Parts: sequence; C-alpha cells; structure tokens
Amino acid sequence: DRKKIVVFGSIVHDLISYTSRFPRPGESIRGKSFQQGAGGKGANQAVAAALLGAQVSMIGKVGDDIFADFNIASMGKAGVETSAVERMPGSTTGTATITVSEEAGGENSIVVTLGANMEMSPEAAEKAESMIASAAILLCQAEIPDAATKKALEIGSKHGVTTFLNPAPGDPNLDKSMLTFVDIICTNENEAEFITGIAAPTPVEAEKAARAMLERGPRVAIITLGPRGCLLAERTAADGIIVSFLPGERVKAVDTTGAGDCFCGTLVALLSSGISLKEAAARATKIASLSVMKRGTQSSYSSRVELIAAGRKELVEGI
Ligand code: RIB
Ligand code: NA
Repeated sequence: DRKKIVVFGSIVHDLISYTSRFPRPGESIRGKSFQQGAGGKGANQAVAAALLGAQVSMIGKVGDDIFADFNIASMGKAGVETSAVERMPGSTTGTATITVSEEAGGENSIVVTLGANMEMSPEAAEKAESMIASAAILLCQAEIPDAATKKALEIGSKHGVTTFLNPAPGDPNLDKSMLTFVDIICTNENEAEFITGIAAPTPVEAEKAARAMLERGPRVAIITLGPRGCLLAERTAADGIIVSFLPGERVKAVDTTGAGDCFCGTLVALLSSGISLKEAAARATKIASLSVMKRGTQSSYSSRVELIAAGRKELVEGI
C-alpha cells in the first residue's frame, strides 16, 4: 500500500557548465561541456521519490517562460502529480547557474535565482491545506521563503502528517522556530552547524549536533556526511536516544549536484513504504552515492527498474 508524499518546495531550471576548474573572480574560463536539466531541491526530491514508485504530489511555482513546461514535464515523466504547480504570470522560473569542476572532484558552485519560487507564501500553504492533510509525509526544503515553509509544516503537523525538513541550502538566518513542527530533520554538516552552532565534520561531532537538533523538536535527526555516509539520531519511546552511523559507498564522483536531494527523496519514499528508518537511511545513502556517478540532478537519479537492472535489487526490496 503506497502512502502519499506531498512536497511543498522549489522548482529550478539548472544550467550546468562542466569545467576543469572553478573560475577566479574576474576570470573567464572555457567550459568543456554544457547541460541543462530540471532541478530545484523540492522538484528533485519529488522526482527521486517518484522514481522509486512512491505516490508523490508537488506544490510549487514556476514562471511563464520557456523553462516552466520543461520542469513540469520532467516531474510528470517521473510520475510526480503536478496539478498544484502554478504558473505565475510575469514571473521567471527559478534558475541555477552551476559550475561543476573536475579538479574539485565533481563539486559544484551554484548561483540560484529563485524567481517564482519566492512567491511561495503562507497563503499558498493554506490554499494547499487539504492536499497537505491527505499526505502521509510532507517534505519541505529551504529554497522558498521561510514563512511559507513554516506554515506548510504547521499545517502538516496539525493534521498528524509526518513532517520532514531538509533545511537546504544552508542559511544561518533560517527561522529555527519552524523546527517545532518538524518530525524528521535531515541536514548536511553545514546546515547542522547553522542550526546548532556545532561544527560537525566528523561522526563524533555530528552526533553532538544531531542531539542538539533533537532538543529543538524533531524526533529524528539525520546528518549526511558526503561520501562518508550519514549519522542518525532517533528519540525512543522511553525518552532515550539511539544513534547510528551508516557508512557510505566509495564511488567515482563526476557530479555531486543534487545528491542530497536524492538522499532525502529516496529516504522518504522508503519510509512511506513502511521500511524502518535505519534500513531506509542505509539504502538512501547508497542510492544517493550512485547519483554522483552521473551528470545533472533529476537526470542522474535511478528508477526502481533501473536499480534492479543494475543488480541492486536489495535497495528496492519491499517497495
Ligand atoms: O540541490 C541541488 C539543486 O539546488 C539544483 O538542482 C539547483 O537547482 C539548486 O537549487
Ligand atoms: Na548527479
């Protein structure tokens, strides 16, 4: 029985240049190749979940330009239901100008111009109340105004929906009061530091940061540690905390863009199928590490069928 996932978040058109190195300020360098693709943290997570067979609806905004259709179509092709994606007259679709450097091992630098995503508002969340209430899990990021995200989380928690927040991209000024409406928080090292003030470069420090995040409301805190895997802290019924470290898989990275989104979308898809948190996080770590071997964001995510064909049936067992 597939439980519904609702994503309330961003949709961004990605314009990606692959280079041998990052340019310095004032410098112009030649790219080796270029690729455009559908992106944005909200849409990426929706697509990652839908590709695994989850039932996903997206709530978001695009502009009335040439990028709008492309991004809606990409979600639709992956199986995401997009009736609550609104085209905003006179606005531009969000764009991300991305440089991926070979020298930096497929790391990126990104300028994201949010356009229509900035029109996501508390009213947009209220308008979507019945859709949010119908979800088993609500998935939010931090690529739209905080007030909108906070309202969506508040509505979700009011209706007993499991709320999942990935506060990315990291912003030291994030409105942390929204964490009281969050059941599961998933961050990278930087975002964990912005929330807790604790730098989390190693699993030991990440554990401290994860415990500090649990004090702000969530019952689960996950910190992803790039290729090293992730750390999971879960509050138990007896008011204890169980901490687990789940190691990553070593792969040759060509483009790490969107790997965090792949992790979050995959994790939520697995949770919605009733797979345990620890098992879901372990599998999401592996599925996300496969995405860094391919270019782009949504275009680098594997479907359930592709994972089975690649001999990784164990990753999609039970969904
Ligand atoms: O997390 C990756 C995403 O962030 C990209 O798809 C890009 O759109 C940026 O917003
Ligand atoms: Na990728």
